[in-house]
Amino acid sequence: MRRFLTPSDIGNLSQALKEAAEVKKNPYAHQHLGKNKTAVLIFFNSSLRTRLSTQKAATNLGMNVIILDINKDGWQLETETGVIMDGDKPEHIREAVPVIGQYCDIIGVRSFARFENKEEDYSEKILNQFIELSGRPVISMESATRHPLQAFADLVTIEEHRSVQRPKVVLTWAPHPKALPQAVPNSFVEWMKVADVDLTVTHPKGYELAPEFMDGVHVEYDQKKAFEGADFIYAKSWASFSEYGKVLSTDRSWTVDEEKMALTNKAKFMHCLPVRRNMVVTDGVIESPDSIVVQEAANRVVSAQTVLKRMLESL
Ligand code: CP
Repeated sequence: MRRFLTPSDIGNLSQALKEAAEVKKNPYAHQHLGKNKTAVLIFFNSSLRTRLSTQKAATNLGMNVIILDINKDGWQLETETGVIMDGDKPEHIREAVPVIGQYCDIIGVRSFARFENKEEDYSEKILNQFIELSGRPVISMESATRHPLQAFADLVTIEEHRSVQRPKVVLTWAPHPKALPQAVPNSFVEWMKVADVDLTVTHPKGYELAPEFMDGVHVEYDQKKAFEGADFIYAKSWASFSEYGKVLSTDRSWTVDEEKMALTNKAKFMHCLPVRRNMVVTDGVIESPDSIVVQEAANRVVSAQTVLKRMLESL
């Protein structure tokens, strides 16, 4: 495996889920694979779960790990081509990336949408330069448009907690004071579309996700109707795609609360975290026995380790 960005990069999903379950059951079984191998994890943006879980996954596989917070510890990188570099950025990404590739066997990259230019964000300008120039397998640790390690962990979690063969899974938009990227909902939809689930997406008008992700997906604008009979409620905030990067609403009638959860089939509550309590979800829901947000975060180690294992096997 040379890159991990979409479900197609991992191939047969049933096989990947089986492998993930084996990794979870016996996390130290493949330490020989990572011996004398190094992962460099590069962060252009903050992280708690991705940083710790990916590091844990790599060390479970016997790898050495180097973490670089590019904004704190590295040179500021110029990412535009053809510019006269007379500003505050002393290094160009086109030198930095191949140099980083010299120091490792696998690279993980976190680089969020900047919300300055939709086309630039959706062309995955930063991530693609790592894929093109590093000479190493590259894992997206959340890029401008996708968060595949999260979505894979979400699917593992649904697989573990489902009580019916084909659960009803509802992705609901929720209010947030800040403009958040569409990477998590995009990937969630992308992965659920190829999984054995019945997916509904609910959000206020104006929050439609990009058509390339939503093709064929059921959208229900009435949140309460969407919740009826759901087995899983996945809450997430995101900024508008059509009015790119804008917060069009902070309407707290969209907050996930006990009353709405009562409409479901005793649904499990999921969120990728971090989450704003009493904006996205009430204290009561996130602290209820049906909240599986911590188990979901724990599975970030499982998704990262399954992907790293595949990459190590194909080096
Ligand atoms: N869910 C997630 O990716 O968390 P972090 O931003 O803390 O890594």
